[in-house]
Amino acid sequence: MKDLLAIRDLDRESIEHILALSAIEHPGKPLAGKGVALVFQKPSTRTRNSMEMAAVQLGGHPVYIPKEDVGLGTREAVEDVARTLACYHAIIAARVMSHSDLERMAAAVDIPVINILSESDHPLQALADLLTVHQLLGRVEGARLAYVGDANNVARSLAEGCSLLGAELVVASPEGYGFDAPPPGVRQVSDPQEAVEGAQFVYTDVWVSMGQDDEVEERRRAFAGYRVDEELMARTDGAWFLHCLPAHRGEEVTAEVLEGPRSAIWRQAENRMHTARGAMAWALEQ
Ligand code: CP
Ligand code: NVA
Repeated sequence: MKDLLAIRDLDRESIEHILALSAIEHPGKPLAGKGVALVFQKPSTRTRNSMEMAAVQLGGHPVYIPKEDVGLGTREAVEDVARTLACYHAIIAARVMSHSDLERMAAAVDIPVINILSESDHPLQALADLLTVHQLLGRVEGARLAYVGDANNVARSLAEGCSLLGAELVVASPEGYGFDAPPPGVRQVSDPQEAVEGAQFVYTDVWVSMGQDDEVEERRRAFAGYRVDEELMARTDGAWFLHCLPAHRGEEVTAEVLEGPRSAIWRQAENRMHTARGAMAWALEQ
């Protein structure tokens, strides 16, 4: 079964194929008459809307399932929720508190399960990011990216994508917030200025992710020197700015950079829909 739980589960050929499928409209409508279950244990703007519209574009019918409805693992066992949804839907996509719930769902059903954000991974975001790099640079291989901030779900999927597609990525994080083991070819440093040297893209994400609300103060302290501002961007040769969104102006990025002429955030947001379409079309292929 073609699940998509993490970028590391894919190979280069599959990623390139998904990106190619993201660029087309699929007149064959592979989801015609079929459902897509969208389970959300955390809030969402981009992911819910991009997945719903991508499902419609593929001819399918998305069903939004908020956490209070399904009670994943509380009202009903994770496996039983998945098996039930598989009775009605061609794809299950879930945004979960615990990545292991996705693995349990994937093991329980024989329809594709897609990760639409877990605490460890955000593969659909990375696919949109890679498409954005490709659109702006004409290629991904050899692209030079810097990621400044928390080595979180978004950073991990980006790092794995860069590693698989041969892009250079330097990650700058404070001590204790970096990767335990960065993917092959990804360099980890502590100094944001060192990370952005020569970068064509500078990426950041929030200091406090969903589910980390009890760490707000310590994280604000730890990340204080990791804000992407015009001074940091000026150390690059006109790099593009990337952010998965939602953004917190004045925390991980200044309003000037977020809204500046080199910000590609709305292109990234739009690409979430195109890569959602590509990922679902790929998952449905035999
Ligand atoms: N980038 C992203 O996943 O946004 P949402 O949390 O709004 O879906
Ligand atoms: N790292 C963020 C990404 C949100 C899209 C979070 O997990 O909250």
